[in-house]
Amino acid sequence: MANAMLLPVLLSFLILPFSAMALTQDFCVADLSCSDTPAGYPCKASVTAGDFYYHGLATAGNTTNLIKAAVTPAFVGQFPGVNGLGISAARLDIAVGGVVPLHTHPAASELLFVTEGTILAGFISSGANTPYTKTLYAGDIMVFPQGLLHYQYNGGSGPAVALVAFGGPNPGLQITDFALFANNLPSPVVEKVTFLDDATVKKLKSVLGGSG
Ligand SMILES: *[C@@H]1O[C@H](CO)[C@@H](O)[C@H](O)[C@H]1NC(C)=O
Repeated sequence: MANAMLLPVLLSFLILPFSAMALTQDFCVADLSCSDTPAGYPCKASVTAGDFYYHGLATAGNTTNLIKAAVTPAFVGQFPGVNGLGISAARLDIAVGGVVPLHTHPAASELLFVTEGTILAGFISSGANTPYTKTLYAGDIMVFPQGLLHYQYNGGSGPAVALVAFGGPNPGLQITDFALFANNLPSPVVEKVTFLDDATVKKLKSVLGGSG
């Protein structure tokens, strides 16, 4: 009886110092040589100021591509210091006529801060499918709630630039058109699940690099 009561008390004394240590740890810089886990990367042993610094967003992304836009990420994979901090960043460059097509970040809300040009942006709510859209100019911010479909495109006559903050170290990116037309999901299936006709599906597959 006495032993049975003593055991949980002893166990909690053994565990408490370790959980207190975990709570008071200042940071956990990602050890990118290990695999990512749902709780983030394991912590790197030797940390320097460079782990909390990233210069990669100073350079404009290459917008010579199909969408005339470039997202330059500063996620945990590029910027290991954000591991475990619930935050990350990116730079968005959109050339004249460019667009970030309808997409979602499954793992983070997004805050867009326009630094140059004009961006037309919007997201669509999940229940009522209500669009929320705005024209953004330099200095404007807009927030896109986690997981909701959204887009940005250049609505001006010069290049547009924005800095983006994410409420997660690895927000993820899924572009709807790429998910539908840039893989080998058979055309009859795509037609069935989108209500689009065969010619449209084949055209989009050919533009976006899909097959089948
Ligand atoms: C930008 O990308 C295009 C297409 O891939 C390429 O031809 C061009 O050299 C790139 N420009 C720069 C500055 O890297």
